[in-house]
Amino acid sequence: MGKKWHEALRQEIVGIDLEVPILNETRSKYINLDNAATTPPLVSVIKSVETFLPWYSSVHRGYGYKSQLSTEIYKTSRQLVLDFFAADPTKYTAIFVKNTSEGLNKLSYRLPSKGYEVLSSWMEHHSNDLPWRFRQKTNFIELTSDGLLDLTDLERKLKNNNRIKLVTICGASNVTGVINPINTIAELAHYYGAEILVDAAQLAPHRPLKISFPNQEKLDYLVLSAHKMYAPFGSGVIIGPIESFFTGTPNEVGGGMVLAVSREQVVFSPPPEREEVGTPNLVGVFALATALQWLNKNNFSQLVKYEELLTKYAFSRLQTIPGIILYGPSPELYPRVGVISFNLQEIPHGLVAAYLSFEAGIGVRHGCFCTRPYVHHLLGLTNPEISYYESLAKKGVKCNLPGMVRISFGFYNTPEEIDILVDSLIELRINEVEIKNRYRIDPNTGEYVPKTKSFSLIIDQHVKSLFED
Ligand SMILES: Cc1ncc(COP(=O)(O)O)c(C=O)c1O
Repeated sequence: MGKKWHEALRQEIVGIDLEVPILNETRSKYINLDNAATTPPLVSVIKSVETFLPWYSSVHRGYGYKSQLSTEIYKTSRQLVLDFFAADPTKYTAIFVKNTSEGLNKLSYRLPSKGYEVLSSWMEHHSNDLPWRFRQKTNFIELTSDGLLDLTDLERKLKNNNRIKLVTICGASNVTGVINPINTIAELAHYYGAEILVDAAQLAPHRPLKISFPNQEKLDYLVLSAHKMYAPFGSGVIIGPIESFFTGTPNEVGGGMVLAVSREQVVFSPPPEREEVGTPNLVGVFALATALQWLNKNNFSQLVKYEELLTKYAFSRLQTIPGIILYGPSPELYPRVGVISFNLQEIPHGLVAAYLSFEAGIGVRHGCFCTRPYVHHLLGLTNPEISYYESLAKKGVKCNLPGMVRISFGFYNTPEEIDILVDSLIELRINEVEIKNRYRIDPNTGEYVPKTKSFSLIIDQHVKSLFED
């Protein structure tokens, strides 16, 4: 894993050398530490899409050459996705959706069977919480004080409630990056007669993940998003047992998913088509498949090792900053993907993110990351405090709400980028008063903005130029 190897890998990322405007009029090389939200695309994915686009046509519809080719591309992509996650195509199917949120919503209409209950956890992204809360009777696994799933509580709930037929948990947290023991949880779920669904949005891009593998408890459902796996264009996938999708009415109905329709009757296509209404997102699906191919060809397990080392390095460097609070156990003690959330005492998380963006060209995220119950737990907020912040939210207040700063890595990030981040945070700590004074809160967005320069004007001009190009 030498420097040359890594420099060549970095060149596989679109826009790796981009510069962005910063406060003191100069431009700075952009450091993207927000990969848990969306990763940049792979050059090879974009090249494959460009090569294919002249041939792009309708899927499952026309009979012209381009349409036949497009249908085959779609089918081959489905096969590649199943292969990547070791899903036997005689048992599992891949249903394409637009992202993890849509996939989880789709499943929440049909899982578990009527009269049964779901077990989710308080660690989940809202997309693996709210669909269940609103459509099924949902129980939640409690958390330990350091932000892990309480496995004793998990087992207790399964043991005491035989109506629970689905356990749905994230493979890795989008706040702390902790990797849940999904195969152990699968064993427990199966032992107590439930299925397991893994929200793999954060795990799949950063660890090899197999739905079914020798000597490993099988998983029942996986859901993930392509845009977090170096493939833009808006696709995602559900992988699950074919038999689960043969019966019942799909949550969305219309063209492209029926074999026959008369005035009286509707005959649905078999899965996966019966769950994919309308014209599918062929480009998005092809991009996902080519990204997975690229990961395979480029020694995914080596990329994973590299990310592990980088995460440990970042955590240990961040620990040296005075007054930093790091959430979750150290990656030296507990497996984590490259997601680290923190706060700097006495400095609002929004100000930290603004300063990093406007003065160091570093892109991070701040707030609660669509995972409020988990963030509340990690921050140690009391129920009255949570109610107070909810009352502010109801009034439309966006400023001074609780949250954290999150950094998250892809395989292309470097230790030098971590050093720049840490140096910037130390600078912020040392010149705290002066730097705080350079910013004001925009009451419309609740975000910190520099007092002396309008970045929204720069962005407006940039947008205009992109439409004109
Ligand atoms: C763990 C987890 N689940 C679900 C989602 C939702 O993904 P998407 O926005 O692609 O639907 C995210 C997004 O950050 C996530 O991190």
